[in-house]
Amino acid sequence: MNNNKKKRILTGDRPTGSLHLGHYVGSLANRVKLQDEYDSYIIIADVQALTTHWEKDENLSRDVFQIATDYLAAGIKPEISTIFIQSMIPEIHELTMYYSMFTTVNVLRHNPTIKTEAAQHGLSDMPYGFLGYPVSQAADITIFKADLVPVGEDQIPHIELSRKIVRRFNELYEPVLVEPQVLVGDVPRLIGLDGKDKMSKSLNNAIFLADSADEVKQKVWDAVTDPARIRKTDLGHPEVCTVYAYHQVFNKAEIEEVEADCRQGRIGCVQCKKKLTAKLNELLEPMRERRQSYLEQPELVKDILQEGTRRAHAVAKETMLDVRSAMKINYFG
Ligand code: TRP
Repeated sequence: MNNNKKKRILTGDRPTGSLHLGHYVGSLANRVKLQDEYDSYIIIADVQALTTHWEKDENLSRDVFQIATDYLAAGIKPEISTIFIQSMIPEIHELTMYYSMFTTVNVLRHNPTIKTEAAQHGLSDMPYGFLGYPVSQAADITIFKADLVPVGEDQIPHIELSRKIVRRFNELYEPVLVEPQVLVGDVPRLIGLDGKDKMSKSLNNAIFLADSADEVKQKVWDAVTDPARIRKTDLGHPEVCTVYAYHQVFNKAEIEEVEADCRQGRIGCVQCKKKLTAKLNELLEPMRERRQSYLEQPELVKDILQEGTRRAHAVAKETMLDVRSAMKINYFG
């Protein structure tokens, strides 16, 4: 199936809300950049979203279209990248079942991301599907024989597990699967607007890709800066300033100047925030334009998802022929 000889990417997200700048610098920018060079597949992991949102499924359809629109707005090109929906590829669920035969509960219980998320969601008695989602994620990745997985750093343990599963499968049966490599973005952890924790929707400290220019302006205006600076001439401490942290990521060209001006009290926080707002809006403006054009064509987004899912399904079916034959569960030839 992989006859264009390009290496393959498989990556994606749970559809649980709008994507923000943390997602962008953590992995989305990589996906946009690498799509010309790699044969790219992007999974909207709706089944995985159910592991924590099973009781809120009335939002699922809206969230699926929202994340698809975020991808397209961010610059994923549907002509060359395949965006598809996890639940519509039954072979993924079949492969998950096979992998769960040789993946132990203890390995899953020690997965650091599982532990953190279980605590975040207050899951002391973990549902079976939640504990097992890294196994399903391994199926997402390996059913596409992906070479590379661009994700945020919290996903590293899951890619490690996928690699282990591939090695085990290839050794137990036949070497039909590919061991994926992980790729984390330039900024694995973007601080939130409150300066306390990483940017996250649930912490209410995020700038979303869908925010308007005015919303960005207001959010940057409210962002926490160096508490020791009251007047412009007070000497600043950029290392404790959220706005400076964003300059480091989104205004690399001027970073030395911004730092020196702050330390020496030559630039006030107001002006510094204005500079940052301009940079952020420069990045987000083309995304807003693309978003607008997709929002005006809802049928187009649906067609992109249907076509992507069809293409992905064909690849998954092909891999499963190899998998079943390796496991000797193809009884009728
Ligand atoms: N676990 C990922 C997240 O929470 C989403 C995901 C599901 C994923 N399947 C994947 C990421 C396969 C990369 C590859 O964001």
